[in-house]
Amino acid sequence: MKDPQSIGDTSPEEFRRQLHELADWIADFRQNIESLRVAPNDKPGAILAALPAEPPEEGEPFEKILGDIDRDIVPGMVHWSHPMFLGYFGWTTTAPAILGEIITAPLNVNAMTWRTCPAATELETLVVDWIRQWMHLPQEFGGVVYDTASVGVMHALAVAREEAAPSVRKHGLVRAGAPVFRIYASEQAHSSAEKAAIALGLGEENVQRVPTDPHFRMNPGALREMIARDVRDNFKPLAVIATVGTTSTASVDPVPGIASICRENRMWLHIDGAYGAGFAILPENKPLTNSWSEADSIVVNPHKSLFVPLDFSVLYVRDLERLRRVFTLVPEYLRGDTVEAQKNYMDYGIQLGRRFRALKAWVIFRSFGLDGMATRLSEFVRLANLFADWIKSDGRFELIAPVSLGVVCFRFVGGDESKTDYLNSEIVEKINASGRAYLTQTKLRGRTVMRIGLGNVLTTEEHLLRAWEMVRETADELNREK
Ligand SMILES: Cc1ncc(COP(=O)(O)O)c(C=O)c1O
Repeated sequence: MKDPQSIGDTSPEEFRRQLHELADWIADFRQNIESLRVAPNDKPGAILAALPAEPPEEGEPFEKILGDIDRDIVPGMVHWSHPMFLGYFGWTTTAPAILGEIITAPLNVNAMTWRTCPAATELETLVVDWIRQWMHLPQEFGGVVYDTASVGVMHALAVAREEAAPSVRKHGLVRAGAPVFRIYASEQAHSSAEKAAIALGLGEENVQRVPTDPHFRMNPGALREMIARDVRDNFKPLAVIATVGTTSTASVDPVPGIASICRENRMWLHIDGAYGAGFAILPENKPLTNSWSEADSIVVNPHKSLFVPLDFSVLYVRDLERLRRVFTLVPEYLRGDTVEAQKNYMDYGIQLGRRFRALKAWVIFRSFGLDGMATRLSEFVRLANLFADWIKSDGRFELIAPVSLGVVCFRFVGGDESKTDYLNSEIVEKINASGRAYLTQTKLRGRTVMRIGLGNVLTTEEHLLRAWEMVRETADELNREK
């Protein structure tokens, strides 16, 4: 039998010592991040092979575990917070964000009902309302924090489905006699639309992709025609997803035009602002928010553009009660939890247990203030435009889409035309394998293009220039080798 003293927690003195050690570890990591490779160049399985396959029989000291993290885990990571990480939408961690995460850890509450943690519920309501104000959404919009935008759109479409075919919630699609619904999103919209349709039993195929204009924005004329054709064919148009900041080019769909089509056809309008909506905090972007007030739902990911670390996504619904009606379900063992408060976040989605996500956001928003966040976001936009200027000044490269928010899509066109796709892909692969920078690639109108996303507070003009030089040198090398 073990000594009962040894099965409790670490002693307070030992824990304090470990925390100090960890504080130094975190500060060193942050200070020295630039000396790390941005990404590993290991073969799949290499990290797993280096770790013991057997679970530990006996407890191990924290120092040993931290040492293994340094030796086996950190080198096996893509460092999204590295200043030379320019992939996806850009990413950042900041000191307030790390502090916010650390403070959340010992509190370890469940934010499922008001009673299970009043402060978590009320702070969530407050933080969600701050973001609503920054998005210029009217007060009738209420929000809920989820992990991701994919989960947000699924919940939004569940409400759309219930309102268009009441009692699907109770009887299911078939017994409720639901029609075959259609959802429309641009060909550039995120695949979370299809994922939502899969989860809701609406059918992946019933997400119809609307063509875009030369700037990759949804073509409202084409949308109108597709809806009319579907009505003739006995489908029931349910919802349109307009994107503010598409995944490849950050293009922004014409929300006002789309909103009026939704109004005419009594359809749900969901705005996917996962990336782009955060940019509404810039005063010059106020026009971006035109007609957002006409939406039924809108999703914004502060973990993409408002400095909150993953995961933190907010779904707003015009009249949040519409969302509650579809998801509230109070089992007997939780009924006592719901007597005092109107707002129990478990009622606003499928998740019961919920993290106290609002705390880290509150720490960050207060530390930076609106002004601090806006200054940083404008710098991302400035750097994106500067990078685009460098591309325009070199005839061997071309911009493939207008620079939007913090995203630049470009292509090397200075080599053998028949090999252009291959070369563009290889430039990205070679740079990423070098560990010195990290870019992504995508396809636009069937052509492979390189892409960078600015969104890291550590990335300076000098880093960007270094990345640009790497792109040019790598293009030259590969072009010579081919
Ligand atoms: C436009 C857009 N919508 C939705 C998503 C999905 O976001 P999440 O990872 O929060 O589900 C992404 C992801 O990059 C995106 O670019």
